[in-house]
Amino acid sequence: MKVLVIGGGGREHAVCLALSRSKRVTRLLCAPGNGGIASVAECVPIAATDVPALVRYAKENAVDFVVVTPDDPLALGLVDALEEAGVKAFGPRKNAAIIESSKVFSKNLMRKYGIPTAEYEVFTDLEAAEAYIREKGAPIVVKADGLALGKGVVVAETVEEALNAARAMMRDKKFGESGSRVVIEERMTGPEVTVLAFTDGKTIRPMPSSQDHKRVFDGNRGPNTGGMGAFTPSPHYTPEIAQVCMETIFRPTIEAMNKEGRPFKGVIYFGLMLTPNGPRVVEYNARFGDPEAQPLLTLLETDLLDIFEAVREERLHEIDIRFRDEAACCVVMASGGYPGVYEKGFEITGLDKVPEDIIVYHAGTTFDGKAYRTNGGRVLGVTATGPTLEKAVERAYDGVERIAFKNMHYRKDIGRI
Ligand code: AMP
Ligand code: GLY
Repeated sequence: MKVLVIGGGGREHAVCLALSRSKRVTRLLCAPGNGGIASVAECVPIAATDVPALVRYAKENAVDFVVVTPDDPLALGLVDALEEAGVKAFGPRKNAAIIESSKVFSKNLMRKYGIPTAEYEVFTDLEAAEAYIREKGAPIVVKADGLALGKGVVVAETVEEALNAARAMMRDKKFGESGSRVVIEERMTGPEVTVLAFTDGKTIRPMPSSQDHKRVFDGNRGPNTGGMGAFTPSPHYTPEIAQVCMETIFRPTIEAMNKEGRPFKGVIYFGLMLTPNGPRVVEYNARFGDPEAQPLLTLLETDLLDIFEAVREERLHEIDIRFRDEAACCVVMASGGYPGVYEKGFEITGLDKVPEDIIVYHAGTTFDGKAYRTNGGRVLGVTATGPTLEKAVERAYDGVERIAFKNMHYRKDIGRI
């Protein structure tokens, strides 16, 4: 089968590598891909958000199956457009991807169906938001409604900080229209765990638990990023907690989406906080996490194309999904300055020194014919496995220490806190 993957980050590299292991994939394409993806798939220079061009390309090139993993094309309705054009596609439709693309939608869904989450209110008027922040006091959390590259959330320690965040989003349009509505919510406490699950709207198959590190600096300091590293499994996620989550969060969410006439088919991302009052939802995403996908897919044993097809055809119950019973860790190497301003184009050295059992997923790279160069905020995701989390972490850093590029920055405590 000819399979096209949409996107060009570390997550898409991991998806491409997993698909390349499938015997049924005879030709693998990726749009737009990146320098590293080019070693497993043919890169097609079309932006992940150019819906008409992607549909045209898939039709004209007789692509059999398209995998849509980034949030923007999902929110734009790429899966709908492909299916309407007769091209099979994996991922939720636009009316289901809203569970990620609108925090107001997801919070209201949880309230309506009694799914545990932080108490909140929605605001479109800055003065009303300011009054609410003053009334509730700090700590308090301010979130832009729409997609903001994982950066539209401020966990404010003081009232002043929360007021500034609301003003930046609502008045100064720091995240464009994404901030014209904001959610203001109670700050929760407890360990954070991510659970990704395959679902066809009927069956839910959670993957092993994982955790990402969103802050840019060691010790969880500095601004939020798309994710500076991730590991699996989470030591906090016991079988008892998994059962509670299935009963109070996972199943109710899928059923709620069905009741709303928005059946969810794809990978659903449950961002959870294990609070003293039980597990609660921090956020939903409508796709694999990046970088959570990197350690998880490294451990996947089942043919990923089989899973994707079963999800699309609503026969996920037939499939046995297996992951290697090991730990895995991905350390992101980023450009200095990320998530703010950073320079690109620096040569990456040492990739050939990385031992073969360590996988270097490329996120923001290009290949100029001779060398790989930096081309984004998150550049590489160095991923290793091991019998214990400690071993996997140690191994991943062994890979990281062999690689260098100008202004590189990575956290030293991934999987260690
Ligand atoms: P989100 O994009 O909604 O996942 O938020 C990004 C990060 O902000 C989360 O991973 C949490 O670490 C933090 N966060 C978001 N909402 C809350 C909350 N209500 N209480 C505490 N931390 C939160
Ligand atoms: N790592 C968080 C995300 O993919 O949204």
